[in-house]
Amino acid sequence: MGVAIVTGASSGIGLSVSKRLVKMGHRVYGIARDFSKTVFKDLDFVPIVCDLTDSAGLVKTVEDILKREDLYILVNNAGVGYFGPHETIKPKYIEEMVRVNLIAPLVLTHLALRSLRKTQGYVINIASITALHPGRFGCAYAATKAGLHQFSSSLFEEVRKSGVKVVTVYPDITQTPFYDKLNFEPEDNPYCYVTPECVAGAVEFILSQREGTVVTQVVLRPQRLQLRKK
Ligand SMILES: NC(=O)c1ccc[n+]([C@@H]2O[C@H](COP(=O)([O-])OP(=O)(O)OC[C@H]3O[C@@H](n4cnc5c(N)ncnc54)[C@H](OP(=O)(O)O)[C@@H]3O)[C@@H](O)[C@H]2O)c1
Repeated sequence: MGVAIVTGASSGIGLSVSKRLVKMGHRVYGIARDFSKTVFKDLDFVPIVCDLTDSAGLVKTVEDILKREDLYILVNNAGVGYFGPHETIKPKYIEEMVRVNLIAPLVLTHLALRSLRKTQGYVINIASITALHPGRFGCAYAATKAGLHQFSSSLFEEVRKSGVKVVTVYPDITQTPFYDKLNFEPEDNPYCYVTPECVAGAVEFILSQREGTVVTQVVLRPQRLQLRKK
């Protein structure tokens, strides 16, 4: 099995994906700012503290890993969302979303590709349903995710001949701490959200294809769409 880097590994989808990858036998370097909230200890899970808004720090952190390891899987999962009418979203939050949701995956992928060509590995980008469907009150967030979607599809065309697989996952409302700081959340009914374990299951499905077949896109949606105001 191979080495993986998972961003946003301290909670939610990234944590579930990290657990699943470790269970599948991979060694996971998890990147986030704060692992004090993360209840997961395993010899094959290596937490790395790094703020993705700091590109120089990110480059150094990842170059250090790549000096020691051949990378097989890069999961660009970390993300932040600020929602509301666009005129109310402060520029510093717009900038944070662009940095974490879009610039960091582009920089990380740039750093990882040489190693991934060697291992015939995977780039798995966790986008969002908002990349595919226009909606209100999350225009800047959707723009970052649509950018990630377009980057992913174009990169697959660019690198497919070299054996690298590039995959985009589009979760709809998923029950994670993503909603902790927002003024809305999924309705408390299992039909109204996707679980982070389901997204991890999608990642396992992506990685379980025969060599030669690439699942390039996976969309996960809850049966019902119902949000509630806090
Ligand atoms: N939940 C949903 O409904 C939903 C739907 C569609 C797509 N998504 C996407 O799924 C991905 C995972 O989100 P989630 O739902 O699992 O939310 P989450 O539980 O809030 O996890 C977000 C992760 O990103 C990390 N992160 C945020 N800012 C960072 C920074 N500056 N530097 C390093 N790490 C940073 C967080 O770690 P620290 O805070 O410890 O740094 C955390 O591990 C995101 O890209 C999100 O946009 C979520």
